[in-house]
Amino acid sequence: MGRVSEKVAIVTGGASGIGRATAESLAREGADVVVTDIDTGEGEKVVAGINRQGGNAIFEQQDVVDEARWIEIIALTQEQFGRLDVLVNNAGIAPGGPIVDTTLEDWKHLMEVNVDSVFLGTKHAIPAMAASGGGSIINLSSVAGIKGAAGLTAYNATKGAVRLFTKGVARECAQTGIRVNSVHPGIIDTAIWGKMSASMADVEGGSVLDAATADGANAPDVEAIAIGLQVPMGHAGKAEEIADGILFLASDESSHMTGSELVIDGGFTC
Ligand SMILES: NC(=O)c1ccc[n+]([C@@H]2O[C@H](COP(=O)([O-])OP(=O)(O)OC[C@H]3O[C@@H](n4cnc5c(N)ncnc54)[C@H](O)[C@@H]3O)[C@@H](O)[C@H]2O)c1
Repeated sequence: MGRVSEKVAIVTGGASGIGRATAESLAREGADVVVTDIDTGEGEKVVAGINRQGGNAIFEQQDVVDEARWIEIIALTQEQFGRLDVLVNNAGIAPGGPIVDTTLEDWKHLMEVNVDSVFLGTKHAIPAMAASGGGSIINLSSVAGIKGAAGLTAYNATKGAVRLFTKGVARECAQTGIRVNSVHPGIIDTAIWGKMSASMADVEGGSVLDAATADGANAPDVEAIAIGLQVPMGHAGKAEEIADGILFLASDESSHMTGSELVIDGGFTC
């Protein structure tokens, strides 16, 4: 038997990195998975791969800041699969830069993608999960939601918000059968680092990123970043290692956990 068989899950940002690995592992362990992302091309490839391996997944294009689309995604999940048990609020962005160079527009955009999305998904998933008799909401925070990082202050604010929002909703839902937990990855080898390196040049970790970007292109060596930032285990994590933690929180193995923060960071915050 799969660890999440007969469960129905939505994974946002499932076209890449941690979201992709999570969709694959939930499907491998028996869940029906709705993969969503703004990136339709990559998202459809992920779903095709899952279905080729004998899993059951569909792709839906979704911008997680759009409330009307959230309502549609949850309704179509219920129509197609009959229920909703698991929501992984994973989609996120991590632009960096010194606070004095961060515009109010940059700040609001980051808040919208990283925080409004988690609020909207959680708000609209709760009634659907209640109708299924309970569920598990897993919100991607970060080690940046626990400790500060110069050059990532706006990102710090978003991930700190996700951490405490999770705990508040966990308390509010504690007697409903709906569990709400946050996951805090450390330095994980995904495409997100390539998307942030250009704007990190002048800030903490920037020299590490520059050194790791041998050809000056947007493809930093995340292994070198983990070493540069002195992750105690001495290497970057893999997306699959975060997916393993998310799978645990999605499954009934974590039935007494709500409001917890699962740190998976090679010792970075210890
Ligand atoms: N990789 C790390 O080191 C790390 C560390 C801590 C936390 N995280 C968090 O983990 C989550 C996943 O990050 P990742 O490393 O897999 O990044 P990634 O860039 O590989 O994947 C993120 C996915 O989210 C999608 N996305 C971005 N904006 C979206 C939007 N508005 N609507 C829908 N989809 C959108 C992207 O298209 C992409 O497919 C993020 O919330 C990130 O902040 C990552």
